[in-house]
Amino acid sequence: MKLFDVYPVYPINPVKAKGAFLWDEKGNEYLDFYGGHAVISIGHSHPHYVEGISNQLKNIGFYSNSVLIPQQEQLADALGKASGLQDFQLFLCNSGAEAVENALKMASFHTGRKKILSFKDSFHGRTSLAVEVTSYSKMKALVNHTGNVTFAELNDIELVERELSSGDYAAVIIEGIQGFSGINVPEKSFLIELRNLCTRFGTMLILDEIQSGYGRTGDFFAFQNAGIIPDIVTIAKGMGNGFPIAGVLLKPEIQPKHGMLGTTFGGNHLACAAGIAVLEVIETEHLVENSKYMGEYLIEKLRKIDLVKSVRGRGLMIGMEFDFPAADLRKKLLTEYNIFTGSSGNQNVMRLLPPLCVTKEECDRFLEAFENILANEPFLQH
Ligand SMILES: Cc1ncc(COP(=O)(O)O)c(C=O)c1O
Repeated sequence: MKLFDVYPVYPINPVKAKGAFLWDEKGNEYLDFYGGHAVISIGHSHPHYVEGISNQLKNIGFYSNSVLIPQQEQLADALGKASGLQDFQLFLCNSGAEAVENALKMASFHTGRKKILSFKDSFHGRTSLAVEVTSYSKMKALVNHTGNVTFAELNDIELVERELSSGDYAAVIIEGIQGFSGINVPEKSFLIELRNLCTRFGTMLILDEIQSGYGRTGDFFAFQNAGIIPDIVTIAKGMGNGFPIAGVLLKPEIQPKHGMLGTTFGGNHLACAAGIAVLEVIETEHLVENSKYMGEYLIEKLRKIDLVKSVRGRGLMIGMEFDFPAADLRKKLLTEYNIFTGSSGNQNVMRLLPPLCVTKEECDRFLEAFENILANEPFLQH
């Protein structure tokens, strides 16, 4: 059987990884400034994480949600403490798109409404409603057009107010920082006003923190920078450091009923062991703080480089925009310096999403390679 060919792939076969590094089968070392798509939070193959998952597997790896799974409560407790959202409720699932589907569904259940407001250049996943609230039309099939979704320009609060004042909207969904589209940061005042409008018109504010959460931006959640509290938060990526686990955080007023949501695999023993180990390492190794400081260090250095038109983001969620497509630059970083970086929906933007444990030396290694390429490639300078 052939693989269904939907991904462009590099001819690289990583067989081992540790911290911020990967090695291929020939022993070549790669520096990971992509984090396997913003997924690697505590670093590859962290010993505490390997131990947590291995020990759990030796006892029990999986049983369905029809029995007690105390690891789920342990994870919810740790997440409440790490995020400051102790009074929220946690629904565990398996992927970002699934978290978004469930968040939108809960907003509709809770409000009895069906319209959703999303934003231009947003990305929320590839499944049914998640892809409908995503602004990239090429990702949508005919079934992904229910007519219930409106898109507003990011930071256009007047349009948001006009729409929400109809009283028809179940939810507004917004990324803490837009990731896929090339690291677009919503204005702080916009987020604050968005919170006010959602409260005023009885609309659920959903913060999609799947990419921007779990310490990536130097706060546990990116929205915390604006001092707001959403009604619903979606999480995935960094939550399991590569183990598939995701979640929906729901404010206390949202009432659960049996059968409303469900999943076979969500919240299984192994996934919880991974999630617990991740939060323990984030706390003991102060990775949210490291993300903040390493991010500030990188952003300050990158802003001094002439050919970089703009540097956006916070913490270790960084986008660099150029006056030319970033593809050649990224290719050179990979083929000549063995450094992985991220692309984006905007071809002129390169994303940096290293593990949150990245060190200053590793940042310097990236910066040196990056500056060397820019200095020695006249074809890029136009
Ligand atoms: C903000 C955001 N939401 C949702 C998703 C979808 O997550 P998944 O690929 O796990 O379904 C992503 C993935 O890149 C994302 O960045």
